[in-house]
Amino acid sequence: MNLAVIVLAAGLGTRMRSSKPKVMHEVAGRSMLDWVRATAGELRPNHMVTVLGPESERQVDGLVVIQRDRRGTGHAAQQALPLLGDFEGWVLILYGDTALIQADTLQAMLTSAESAGADLAVTGFEPSDPAKYGRLVVEGGRLTRIVEFKDASEVERAIRLCNGGLMALRAPKALQLLNELDDQNAAGEFYLTDLVDLVNQGGGHCLVHMCPEDEVKGVNTRVELAEVEALMQARLRERSMLAGVTMQDPGSVFLAYDTQIGQDTVLEANQVFGPGVTIGSNVKVLANCHFENAQVGDGATIGPFARLRPGTVLAEKVKIGNFVETKKAQIEEGAKVNHLSYVGDAQIGPRANIGAGTITVNYDGVNKHLTEIGEGAFVGSNSSLIAPIKVGAGALVGAGSTVSKDIEADALALGRADQRSIPGGAARLRTKLSKSKS
Ligand code: UD1
Ligand code: CA
Repeated sequence: MNLAVIVLAAGLGTRMRSSKPKVMHEVAGRSMLDWVRATAGELRPNHMVTVLGPESERQVDGLVVIQRDRRGTGHAAQQALPLLGDFEGWVLILYGDTALIQADTLQAMLTSAESAGADLAVTGFEPSDPAKYGRLVVEGGRLTRIVEFKDASEVERAIRLCNGGLMALRAPKALQLLNELDDQNAAGEFYLTDLVDLVNQGGGHCLVHMCPEDEVKGVNTRVELAEVEALMQARLRERSMLAGVTMQDPGSVFLAYDTQIGQDTVLEANQVFGPGVTIGSNVKVLANCHFENAQVGDGATIGPFARLRPGTVLAEKVKIGNFVETKKAQIEEGAKVNHLSYVGDAQIGPRANIGAGTITVNYDGVNKHLTEIGEGAFVGSNSSLIAPIKVGAGALVGAGSTVSKDIEADALALGRADQRSIPGGAARLRTKLSKSKS
């Protein structure tokens, strides 16, 4: 079937109390608008038009129109008409603030509308609290109109069947009726929902497609944003566990929309995954780690309390221990950074061992520099590696060294002051100090 999608995303969302447009707020690391667009994209539409507000500096792929004055959802949809020209087929109108909607639900609504020979379909649901949703008026099995809460009588407000805010229209017929909406209502806006009445007046047929409450939960406040985040997290965790990931305490694991975790990986409690993270299989992630744009190879062990920042690429069986931070670091197979280290702008060869408290001194205040550590090298505890620097394969850096010159393969480097011991010195000092005690 021919399909065009219009995503309405121009609303200010005043109830969010934010300086950015509502639909740009994120759920699981992706804006609500991108969630809706990605889900609609799964249906492979012929066209996708996004209606944005004038202050939206953001670029989105595909066709964009700006709604200059916000005069309601119907007015927003009208803005897309010039771009859809003489399109024939189904037009799906989605709200940018319903991030939880799933492609299967959209497809099912289109299929039932098509097979019923309908001209318009909306999603209906019976929320536990109908609140301010538009009410669906069904008479003789047909959807006759939608009444917005502000305009509804007491009797209409008692209707439990609500408008989920997704609409499918047959084009060109039902789509062209957008031009006939008016703003004679309590809000003084052009309501998209009035289209139902117009289609019926023209002898058309409108239907309600029932859908799960969670999927049409709109976000109007930060409280609802947090509720949608929780529902999305539950969905992402479930998907991950069903794909073979063990979570000791799923409720404390926060995933991003694109987090990928391999089979038989075990996550202990309290993990946060920002966007762009791929974790291999058989990885053990001990408690309290934070990941962003990082890749972890099969069989690695991470944490507890590790922070893997953007550009971290760990090969198989790498060990990253407690209080270790990595950034732009490529760490090869079997290498270990077990305790209290910062590894940034670094390449670490296979099976190298980076001792406790090692710091790659990567930043001179202006530029960042690379640290290269060869295969099997051993960096003693509490060493500072002042980049740019190369530590050759098999080299050994003595503990406590400050290293500022390249070290050749298999060399021993000691970059610390020689130790001096003064026999009896401690005892003499103590005596002197206690005499001067006041
Ligand atoms: C709308 C429906 C209501 C339904 C509810 C479901 C109308 C008139 N009402 O109400 O029946 O139960 O959604 O969540 O459609 N937008 C624009 N330009 C505008 C106004 C809104 O682009 O001028 C966009 C917003 O960015 C948002 C979407 O349209 O993504 C919905 O607008 P919103 O104000 O949230 O509608 P509701 O009052 O929730
Ligand atoms: Ca809404």
